[in-house]
Amino acid sequence: MRIDIYTIFPAILTSPLQEGLLGKAIAGGILDVRVHDIREHAEGKHRQVDDAPFGGGPGMVMKPEPVFEAVTRTLGYGVDELDALQKKIRVFMLTPRGERMTQTKVEEMAALDHIALICGRYEGVDERVLEHLCTDALSIGDYVLSGGEFAALVVVEAVSRLVPGVLGNEESLACESFCGGLLEYPQYTRPAEYCGWKVPEVLVSGDHGAVEKWRRDAAVEWTKKRRPEIGS
Ligand code: ADE
Repeated sequence: MRIDIYTIFPAILTSPLQEGLLGKAIAGGILDVRVHDIREHAEGKHRQVDDAPFGGGPGMVMKPEPVFEAVTRTLGYGVDELDALQKKIRVFMLTPRGERMTQTKVEEMAALDHIALICGRYEGVDERVLEHLCTDALSIGDYVLSGGEFAALVVVEAVSRLVPGVLGNEESLACESFCGGLLEYPQYTRPAEYCGWKVPEVLVSGDHGAVEKWRRDAAVEWTKKRRPEIGS
């Protein structure tokens, strides 16, 4: 899978993309993640990427031209070939105004061959980027970040772990939180007793059927208490 990320702060993305399973998958060629500096595609001596909003108001708005240029040039299309680009590549704007991301959305994205993520900044991005360049607008939750960079990392992390070969142990995908409408059951490891706190007896009983039942019941109870709206 290929993911192109567009930002004016590429350094924010550098080390998270080099670490852990994600870093390994990128280094091993399972994932092709490319970070692009929007400023490199801005015109003029100062490579200006933002300007004051028409109609007044606080803050600055990201200009359209550097974003259109960055995305189309690096993906090999002209600004007059947006239909063709969008047929091949889904272009997501990361914004709190977007559709809220869920595990179902993540699964849908993981099935795509090629996606592009645009990180907005400041008070916003010129709406023509959303209207004419993006196919989707995506929010990682109902709160506001100063920019889309950390949201892009969340998307890359959530999506890439569903790409075959990224996780070491594919089995661990089988029963995670949100699968089957339940959050995951609690896990324990050695020691069986710590500071007087014992792990549930059943988990050390060797009775696999009883362990399965305990886990299912624990998942139901946990979900009911913390996220009653997703419980089945
Ligand atoms: N940029 C700022 N806030 C965001 C959010 N909640 N999701 C995605 N991108 C954002």
